Amino acid sequence: MALPMFHEPVLKEEALRFLVTEKKGIYLDGTLGGGGHSEAILKTLSKSGRLVALDLDKDAIEFSQKRLKFKNFIAEQANFKNLGEVLKKLKIAGLHGILLDLGVSSYQIDTAEKGFSYRTSGKLDMRMNSKQELTAHEIVNTFSGEELGEIFKKYGEERRYRAIARVIVKEREKHLIETTTDLKEIISVVLPYRNRVKSLSRIFQALRIAVNEELENLKSALEIGSNYLTTGGRMVVISYHSLEDRIVKTFFKHNSRRCVCPPDLPICVCGEPGLLKLLTKRSVQPLEEEIQRNPRSRSARLRAAEVLER
Ligand SMILES: C[S@@+](CC[C@H](N)C(=O)[O-])C[C@H]1O[C@@H](n2cnc3c(N)ncnc32)[C@H](O)[C@@H]1O
Repeated sequence: MALPMFHEPVLKEEALRFLVTEKKGIYLDGTLGGGGHSEAILKTLSKSGRLVALDLDKDAIEFSQKRLKFKNFIAEQANFKNLGEVLKKLKIAGLHGILLDLGVSSYQIDTAEKGFSYRTSGKLDMRMNSKQELTAHEIVNTFSGEELGEIFKKYGEERRYRAIARVIVKEREKHLIETTTDLKEIISVVLPYRNRVKSLSRIFQALRIAVNEELENLKSALEIGSNYLTTGGRMVVISYHSLEDRIVKTFFKHNSRRCVCPPDLPICVCGEPGLLKLLTKRSVQPLEEEIQRNPRSRSARLRAAEVLER
C-alpha cells in the first residue's frame, strides 16, 4: 500500500545542486519531515556516502524510516540545534553538507490535533516535539497581555498586536481558550475583514515560533553546524518567512568576511576572506511552475554558503 502524502519537498533540485559536492560524503538533513529532500540526497550519494537526518517530530521520524530503506541512512528524533550531540554519539567528526528546510511540514499543518492551523479545529498545541512542556494553550491562557503582544509584534510583525493581546486577555477571564477555532474567532473580532486572513496567519505563525523557539534554534544550528563543516562543505537553508531569512542572510554575510583591519579604520581595507563563501548572492526562489504545482512553496527562499579553508 502506498504511504500517504506527507509533504512535497520544496526547491528539491536546487537544494541538491548546492548541497552535494562529494558522493562519498557525510551529510546532515536537520529537518527530515516526509523525507523528500533526504530521499533525493540518498539517491545522489554513493553507497559509501552517509546521511544523518533529524526531526523534532516523532511522526516524521517514523514515517520516513518506513519509507526510506537505505543502509546509509540514520534518522534520529532531535532538535537540529543539538546536532553536535547526535554527531558525537555517531562518532562523526565532520560533515560535507547540512540542509535545513525550516518551519512545519504539510502533514503537521493539516493534522488538526497538532493545533497549528486556524483552518482546522484542534486543541491549541503547536509543539513539533510532543514531549515538550510548553504549548500554545499555555502561552495563550497564561502569558500576560504585554508578553502576548510582544510575541505577536516580534514573531508575527503584526501591527494590531496590542488589540489582539487585549481581546485574548479579556476573553480568557470568562473561560479558557481551548482550540484553534476559539482563538480564531476571538481574534477575528478585532481584525478588519480585508486583512483578516493575513493577520490570522501572522498570529498563528508568531505563536508557533514562540512555542518551538524556532529563531533561537536556527541561530544555534547555523553557528554549531558551520563548525562541523569540512573545507568545501556546504550549508543550505530554505526559509519561509522574512524573520528566518534575515537570520540566515545576516549569518552568511557576517561570516563571509573576517576583517583583520584595526578597529578604528572607518572601512575594511584588508580584503581577508571569511569563514564562508556565499553561493547565493540573492536568495533562490521557486519557479512559477513549482508554485503552481505546490502553492506552499510560494514564500520559499534558499540560501547557500560554502566553508573556506580555516
Ligand atoms: C518543511 S518540513 C521539512 C520537509 C522535508 N524537507 C521534506 O522533504 O519532507 C520541516 C520539518 O522540520 C522539523 N523541524 C523544525 N524545526 C526543527 C528543529 N529545531 N529541529 C529538528 N526538526 C525541526 C519539523 O518538525 C518538520 O518536520
